[in-house]
Amino acid sequence: MSDFELTRTLDEHASEVALRADVLHGLTRSPKVLPPKWFYDARGSELFEEITRLPEYYPTRAEREILLERAREIASESGARTLVELGSGSSEKTRHLIEALPALDTYVPVDVSESALAGAADTLLAEHPGLRVHALLADFTGPLQLPETPGPRLVVFLGGTIGNLRPPERAEFLHAVRAMLSPGDALLMGTDLVKEESVLVAAYDDAQGVTAEFNRNVLAVINRELDADFRPDDFEHVALWNREQEWIEMRLRARSELSVKIRALNLVVPFAAGEEILTEVSAKFRQDGLRSELAAAGLELVQWWTDAAGRFALSLSVADGPGLRPAEPAAG
Ligand code: SAH
Ligand code: TRP
Repeated sequence: MSDFELTRTLDEHASEVALRADVLHGLTRSPKVLPPKWFYDARGSELFEEITRLPEYYPTRAEREILLERAREIASESGARTLVELGSGSSEKTRHLIEALPALDTYVPVDVSESALAGAADTLLAEHPGLRVHALLADFTGPLQLPETPGPRLVVFLGGTIGNLRPPERAEFLHAVRAMLSPGDALLMGTDLVKEESVLVAAYDDAQGVTAEFNRNVLAVINRELDADFRPDDFEHVALWNREQEWIEMRLRARSELSVKIRALNLVVPFAAGEEILTEVSAKFRQDGLRSELAAAGLELVQWWTDAAGRFALSLSVADGPGLRPAEPAAG
Protein backbone atom coordinates (compact mmCIF):
# COMPACT_ATOMS: atom_id res chain seq x y z
CA MET A 1 0.00 0.00 0.00
CA SER A 2 1.45 3.33 -0.91
CA ASP A 3 0.27 6.54 0.69
CA PHE A 4 0.28 8.82 -2.31
CA GLU A 5 -2.26 11.28 -3.53
CA LEU A 6 -2.00 13.78 -6.37
CA THR A 7 -4.27 16.80 -6.64
CA ARG A 8 -4.30 18.49 -10.03
CA THR A 9 -5.19 22.15 -9.90
CA LEU A 10 -3.94 22.54 -13.46
CA ASP A 11 -5.65 20.54 -16.13
CA GLU A 12 -4.33 20.31 -19.65
CA HIS A 13 -6.92 22.69 -20.95
CA ALA A 14 -6.16 25.38 -18.37
CA SER A 15 -2.42 25.00 -19.01
CA GLU A 16 -2.88 25.39 -22.71
CA VAL A 17 -5.01 28.49 -22.26
CA ALA A 18 -2.31 29.96 -20.02
CA LEU A 19 0.48 29.04 -22.44
CA ARG A 20 -1.39 30.63 -25.36
CA ALA A 21 -1.88 33.83 -23.39
CA ASP A 22 1.77 33.96 -22.30
CA VAL A 23 3.10 33.28 -25.80
CA LEU A 24 0.72 35.71 -27.49
CA HIS A 25 1.48 38.43 -25.00
CA GLY A 26 5.21 37.72 -24.70
CA LEU A 27 6.12 37.34 -28.38
CA THR A 28 4.10 40.27 -29.72
CA ARG A 29 5.73 42.84 -27.42
CA SER A 30 9.17 44.37 -27.55
CA PRO A 31 11.45 43.19 -26.05
CA LYS A 32 10.07 39.65 -26.38
CA VAL A 33 9.72 37.66 -23.16
CA LEU A 34 8.49 34.23 -21.99
CA PRO A 35 7.74 33.15 -18.41
CA PRO A 36 10.11 30.44 -17.11
CA LYS A 37 7.54 27.90 -15.91
CA TRP A 38 7.14 26.64 -19.51
CA PHE A 39 10.67 25.21 -19.45
CA TYR A 40 9.55 22.35 -17.28
CA ASP A 41 7.92 19.68 -19.37
CA ALA A 42 9.28 16.14 -18.78
CA ARG A 43 12.35 16.87 -20.93
CA GLY A 44 12.91 20.24 -19.25
CA SER A 45 12.74 18.70 -15.77
CA GLU A 46 15.27 16.08 -16.87
CA LEU A 47 17.59 18.75 -18.27
CA PHE A 48 17.32 20.75 -15.05
CA GLU A 49 18.44 17.67 -13.08
CA GLU A 50 21.41 17.45 -15.44
CA ILE A 51 22.19 21.12 -14.78
CA THR A 52 22.30 20.43 -11.03
CA ARG A 53 25.17 17.99 -11.64
CA LEU A 54 27.27 20.29 -13.83
CA PRO A 55 30.66 21.37 -12.47
CA GLU A 56 29.79 25.05 -13.12
CA TYR A 57 26.37 24.92 -11.42
CA TYR A 58 27.41 25.37 -7.78
CA PRO A 59 23.99 26.33 -6.24
CA THR A 60 22.71 22.77 -5.83
CA ARG A 61 25.90 21.52 -4.18
CA ALA A 62 26.17 24.59 -1.96
CA GLU A 63 22.57 24.28 -0.83
CA ARG A 64 22.95 20.56 -0.17
CA GLU A 65 26.04 21.27 1.93
CA ILE A 66 24.04 23.69 4.12
CA LEU A 67 21.07 21.33 4.39
CA LEU A 68 23.26 18.43 5.43
CA GLU A 69 24.96 20.54 8.06
CA ARG A 70 21.80 22.21 9.42
CA ALA A 71 19.07 19.60 8.97
CA ARG A 72 18.98 18.71 12.68
CA GLU A 73 18.88 22.33 13.75
CA ILE A 74 16.12 23.14 11.27
CA ALA A 75 14.20 20.05 12.34
CA SER A 76 14.37 20.84 16.04
CA GLU A 77 13.47 24.50 15.54
CA SER A 78 10.47 23.65 13.39
CA GLY A 79 9.25 20.31 14.77
CA ALA A 80 7.26 20.13 11.55
CA ARG A 81 4.56 17.50 11.05
CA THR A 82 3.79 18.85 7.59
CA LEU A 83 6.45 19.78 5.08
CA VAL A 84 5.21 21.83 2.11
CA GLU A 85 7.70 22.31 -0.72
CA LEU A 86 7.14 24.83 -3.51
CA GLY A 87 8.81 24.03 -6.85
CA SER A 88 9.91 20.70 -5.42
CA GLY A 89 11.26 19.20 -8.67
CA SER A 90 13.03 15.90 -7.90
CA SER A 91 12.89 16.55 -4.08
CA GLU A 92 16.48 15.36 -4.10
CA LYS A 93 17.88 17.70 -1.41
CA THR A 94 14.66 17.66 0.59
CA ARG A 95 15.33 14.05 1.53
CA HIS A 96 17.94 15.25 4.04
CA LEU A 97 15.27 17.29 5.77
CA ILE A 98 12.69 14.51 5.66
CA GLU A 99 15.20 12.17 7.29
CA ALA A 100 15.85 14.70 10.06
CA LEU A 101 12.17 15.34 10.92
CA PRO A 102 11.07 12.54 13.27
CA ALA A 103 7.50 13.81 13.70
CA LEU A 104 6.86 14.30 9.99
CA ASP A 105 3.43 13.08 8.91
CA THR A 106 2.83 14.52 5.44
CA TYR A 107 5.01 15.87 2.66
CA VAL A 108 3.25 18.17 0.20
CA PRO A 109 5.39 18.75 -2.91
CA VAL A 110 4.01 21.46 -5.21
CA ASP A 111 5.20 21.72 -8.82
CA VAL A 112 4.02 22.39 -12.37
CA SER A 113 5.87 19.31 -13.60
CA GLU A 114 3.80 16.16 -13.16
CA SER A 115 6.71 13.92 -14.20
CA ALA A 116 8.91 15.48 -11.51
CA LEU A 117 6.20 15.03 -8.84
CA ALA A 118 5.63 11.39 -9.79
CA GLY A 119 9.34 10.56 -9.86
CA ALA A 120 9.98 12.25 -6.50
CA ALA A 121 7.05 10.47 -4.84
CA ASP A 122 8.22 7.06 -6.06
CA THR A 123 11.67 7.54 -4.58
CA LEU A 124 10.44 9.02 -1.29
CA LEU A 125 7.76 6.41 -0.63
CA ALA A 126 10.27 3.62 -1.25
CA GLU A 127 12.61 5.18 1.34
CA HIS A 128 9.98 6.25 3.89
CA PRO A 129 7.16 3.71 3.98
CA GLY A 130 5.31 5.56 6.77
CA LEU A 131 5.29 8.92 5.03
CA ARG A 132 2.15 10.37 3.47
CA VAL A 133 2.83 12.22 0.22
CA HIS A 134 0.13 14.56 -1.02
CA ALA A 135 1.42 16.10 -4.23
CA LEU A 136 -0.07 19.24 -5.72
CA LEU A 137 0.21 19.89 -9.44
CA ALA A 138 -0.11 23.65 -9.18
CA ASP A 139 1.39 27.01 -10.05
CA PHE A 140 2.94 28.45 -6.89
CA THR A 141 2.43 32.01 -8.18
CA GLY A 142 -1.34 31.52 -7.99
CA PRO A 143 -3.68 30.74 -5.09
CA LEU A 144 -2.82 27.39 -3.45
CA GLN A 145 -5.30 25.09 -1.74
CA LEU A 146 -3.13 23.15 0.69
CA PRO A 147 -4.54 19.86 2.01
CA GLU A 148 -5.72 19.67 5.64
CA THR A 149 -2.72 18.29 7.47
CA PRO A 150 -1.37 18.45 11.03
CA GLY A 151 0.83 21.38 12.15
CA PRO A 152 3.35 22.71 12.69
CA ARG A 153 4.03 23.34 9.04
CA LEU A 154 7.39 24.02 7.45
CA VAL A 155 7.21 25.61 3.99
CA VAL A 156 10.39 25.17 1.97
CA PHE A 157 11.38 26.91 -1.24
CA LEU A 158 14.79 25.71 -2.41
CA GLY A 159 17.11 26.01 -5.37
CA GLY A 160 17.12 29.79 -5.46
CA THR A 161 13.84 29.60 -7.39
CA ILE A 162 12.62 32.77 -5.60
CA GLY A 163 15.18 34.53 -7.84
CA ASN A 164 13.20 33.53 -10.92
CA LEU A 165 10.41 35.91 -9.83
CA ARG A 166 10.64 39.68 -10.51
CA PRO A 167 10.54 41.97 -7.47
CA PRO A 168 6.79 42.74 -7.70
CA GLU A 169 5.95 39.03 -8.18
CA ARG A 170 8.30 38.21 -5.34
CA ALA A 171 6.47 40.60 -3.02
CA GLU A 172 3.14 39.05 -3.94
CA PHE A 173 4.53 35.54 -3.55
CA LEU A 174 6.01 36.27 -0.10
CA HIS A 175 2.69 37.73 1.07
CA ALA A 176 0.96 34.54 -0.08
CA VAL A 177 3.52 32.42 1.82
CA ARG A 178 3.01 34.59 4.90
CA ALA A 179 -0.70 33.81 4.67
CA MET A 180 0.09 30.06 4.76
CA LEU A 181 1.89 30.35 8.09
CA SER A 182 0.23 30.01 11.48
CA PRO A 183 2.07 30.67 14.73
CA GLY A 184 4.73 27.95 15.09
CA ASP A 185 5.11 27.52 11.31
CA ALA A 186 8.20 28.60 9.38
CA LEU A 187 9.57 29.26 5.90
CA LEU A 188 12.91 27.78 4.84
CA MET A 189 14.21 29.41 1.68
CA GLY A 190 17.31 28.94 -0.45
CA THR A 191 18.79 32.02 -2.14
CA ASP A 192 21.82 32.32 -4.33
CA LEU A 193 24.10 35.20 -3.33
CA VAL A 194 25.69 38.06 -5.29
CA LYS A 195 29.24 37.11 -6.23
CA GLU A 196 31.87 37.46 -8.89
CA GLU A 197 30.38 37.83 -12.37
CA SER A 198 32.45 35.10 -14.05
CA VAL A 199 31.28 32.48 -11.52
CA LEU A 200 27.65 33.49 -11.98
CA VAL A 201 27.75 33.57 -15.75
CA ALA A 202 29.48 30.17 -16.00
CA ALA A 203 26.71 28.63 -13.85
CA TYR A 204 24.19 29.66 -16.53
CA ASP A 205 26.36 29.01 -19.58
CA ASP A 206 28.16 25.71 -19.03
CA ALA A 207 30.84 24.31 -21.30
CA GLN A 208 28.80 21.21 -22.22
CA GLY A 209 25.86 23.28 -23.40
CA VAL A 210 23.26 21.65 -21.13
CA THR A 211 21.90 25.01 -20.00
CA ALA A 212 21.70 26.12 -23.64
CA GLU A 213 19.63 23.03 -24.41
CA PHE A 214 17.44 23.67 -21.37
CA ASN A 215 16.86 27.26 -22.50
CA ARG A 216 15.97 26.19 -26.05
CA ASN A 217 13.60 23.52 -24.69
CA VAL A 218 10.96 26.20 -24.19
CA LEU A 219 10.83 26.52 -28.00
CA ALA A 220 10.22 22.79 -28.33
CA VAL A 221 7.37 23.09 -25.81
CA ILE A 222 5.75 25.85 -27.91
CA ASN A 223 6.24 23.80 -31.10
CA ARG A 224 4.51 20.81 -29.57
CA GLU A 225 1.72 22.54 -27.65
CA LEU A 226 0.89 25.35 -30.07
CA ASP A 227 1.85 23.76 -33.36
CA ALA A 228 4.67 26.24 -34.02
CA ASP A 229 7.72 25.87 -36.25
CA PHE A 230 10.60 27.22 -34.18
CA ARG A 231 13.94 25.73 -35.19
CA PRO A 232 15.68 25.77 -31.79
CA ASP A 233 19.14 25.83 -33.39
CA ASP A 234 18.30 29.15 -35.02
CA PHE A 235 18.62 30.64 -31.53
CA GLU A 236 21.77 31.20 -29.54
CA HIS A 237 21.77 30.79 -25.75
CA VAL A 238 22.85 33.97 -23.96
CA ALA A 239 23.47 34.37 -20.22
CA LEU A 240 24.48 37.76 -18.88
CA TRP A 241 24.83 39.49 -15.54
CA ASN A 242 22.65 42.56 -15.07
CA ARG A 243 24.65 44.60 -12.57
CA GLU A 244 21.90 47.10 -11.73
CA GLN A 245 19.24 44.50 -11.02
CA GLU A 246 21.74 41.97 -9.67
CA TRP A 247 20.24 39.16 -11.68
CA ILE A 248 21.35 36.77 -14.39
CA GLU A 249 19.35 37.09 -17.60
CA MET A 250 18.83 34.14 -19.85
CA ARG A 251 17.99 34.99 -23.40
CA LEU A 252 17.52 33.28 -26.75
CA ARG A 253 19.02 35.32 -29.60
CA ALA A 254 17.95 34.83 -33.24
CA ARG A 255 21.07 34.04 -35.27
CA SER A 256 19.55 35.62 -38.40
CA GLU A 257 16.40 37.38 -39.53
CA LEU A 258 13.60 34.81 -39.49
CA SER A 259 9.95 34.31 -38.77
CA VAL A 260 8.05 31.68 -36.85
CA LYS A 261 4.50 30.45 -37.45
CA ILE A 262 2.46 29.64 -34.38
CA ARG A 263 -0.53 27.90 -35.91
CA ALA A 264 -2.63 27.51 -32.78
CA LEU A 265 -2.52 31.30 -32.38
CA ASN A 266 -2.82 32.05 -36.06
CA LEU A 267 0.26 34.19 -35.58
CA VAL A 268 3.49 34.86 -37.44
CA VAL A 269 6.26 36.22 -35.24
CA PRO A 270 9.07 38.07 -37.03
CA PHE A 271 12.58 38.21 -35.55
CA ALA A 272 15.29 40.66 -36.62
CA ALA A 273 18.81 39.22 -36.76
CA GLY A 274 20.12 39.36 -33.19
CA GLU A 275 16.69 39.94 -31.67
CA GLU A 276 16.26 38.26 -28.30
CA ILE A 277 13.60 36.62 -26.15
CA LEU A 278 14.16 37.08 -22.41
CA THR A 279 13.34 33.63 -21.02
CA GLU A 280 14.38 33.94 -17.40
CA VAL A 281 15.93 36.07 -14.73
CA SER A 282 17.72 34.54 -11.76
CA ALA A 283 18.17 37.17 -9.08
CA LYS A 284 21.04 36.94 -6.63
CA PHE A 285 20.58 38.21 -3.09
CA ARG A 286 22.25 39.92 -0.16
CA GLN A 287 21.14 39.29 3.41
CA ASP A 288 19.94 42.87 4.03
CA GLY A 289 17.89 43.01 0.86
CA LEU A 290 16.23 39.69 1.56
CA ARG A 291 15.55 40.61 5.17
CA SER A 292 13.69 43.74 4.10
CA GLU A 293 11.72 41.96 1.36
CA LEU A 294 10.66 39.40 3.95
CA ALA A 295 9.78 42.11 6.47
CA ALA A 296 7.66 43.91 3.88
CA ALA A 297 5.62 40.70 3.57
CA GLY A 298 5.21 40.28 7.33
CA LEU A 299 7.99 37.71 7.67
CA GLU A 300 10.86 37.89 10.11
CA LEU A 301 14.19 36.37 9.18
CA VAL A 302 15.38 34.39 12.23
CA GLN A 303 18.24 32.24 10.87
CA TRP A 304 20.74 32.69 8.06
CA TRP A 305 23.17 29.95 7.10
CA THR A 306 25.63 29.85 4.19
CA ASP A 307 27.90 27.19 2.76
CA ALA A 308 31.57 27.37 3.80
CA ALA A 309 32.47 29.27 0.63
CA GLY A 310 29.67 31.82 1.21
CA ARG A 311 28.08 31.26 -2.18
CA PHE A 312 24.52 30.38 -1.23
CA ALA A 313 22.24 30.98 1.77
CA LEU A 314 19.44 29.15 3.50
CA SER A 315 17.20 31.32 5.65
CA LEU A 316 14.52 30.50 8.17
CA SER A 317 11.69 32.98 8.65
CA VAL A 318 8.54 33.12 10.72
CA ALA A 319 5.38 35.20 10.54
CA ASP A 320 5.83 38.35 12.56
CA GLY A 321 2.56 37.82 14.38
CA PRO A 322 0.60 40.39 16.37
CA GLY A 323 2.36 39.26 19.53
CA LEU A 324 5.58 40.85 18.34
CA ARG A 325 4.11 44.27 17.58
CA PRO A 326 3.78 46.97 20.19
CA ALA A 327 0.27 47.14 21.59
CA GLU A 328 -2.11 49.64 19.98
CA PRO A 329 -2.61 52.69 22.14
CA ALA A 330 -5.99 52.49 23.86
CA ALA A 331 -8.72 54.40 22.05
CA GLY A 332 -10.18 57.58 23.60
N1 SAH B 1 13.62 22.67 -5.81
C1 SAH B 1 14.40 21.93 -6.81
C2 SAH B 1 14.03 22.34 -8.25
C3 SAH B 1 14.37 23.76 -8.63
S1 SAH B 1 14.03 24.10 -10.36
C4 SAH B 1 15.87 22.16 -6.57
O1 SAH B 1 16.19 22.95 -5.69
O2 SAH B 1 16.69 21.54 -7.25
C5 SAH B 1 12.49 24.93 -10.23
C6 SAH B 1 11.31 23.97 -10.01
O3 SAH B 1 10.13 24.76 -9.85
C7 SAH B 1 11.04 23.02 -11.16
O4 SAH B 1 10.76 21.73 -10.65
C8 SAH B 1 9.81 23.61 -11.85
O5 SAH B 1 9.01 22.62 -12.46
C9 SAH B 1 9.11 24.30 -10.72
N2 SAH B 1 8.36 25.49 -11.10
C10 SAH B 1 8.79 26.53 -11.87
N3 SAH B 1 7.85 27.48 -11.94
C11 SAH B 1 6.80 27.03 -11.19
C12 SAH B 1 5.52 27.57 -10.88
N4 SAH B 1 5.13 28.77 -11.33
N5 SAH B 1 4.70 26.85 -10.07
C13 SAH B 1 5.08 25.63 -9.58
N6 SAH B 1 6.28 25.08 -9.86
C14 SAH B 1 7.13 25.76 -10.65
N1 TRP C 1 16.07 28.15 -10.18
C1 TRP C 1 17.18 27.88 -11.06
C2 TRP C 1 18.15 29.04 -11.00
O1 TRP C 1 17.77 30.15 -11.19
C3 TRP C 1 16.70 27.62 -12.45
C4 TRP C 1 17.78 27.49 -13.49
C5 TRP C 1 19.03 27.06 -13.37
C6 TRP C 1 17.67 27.84 -14.84
N2 TRP C 1 19.70 27.08 -14.56
C7 TRP C 1 18.88 27.55 -15.46
C8 TRP C 1 16.65 28.33 -15.59
C9 TRP C 1 19.09 27.80 -16.80
C10 TRP C 1 16.87 28.57 -16.93
C11 TRP C 1 18.07 28.30 -17.53
O2 TRP C 1 19.31 28.85 -10.72
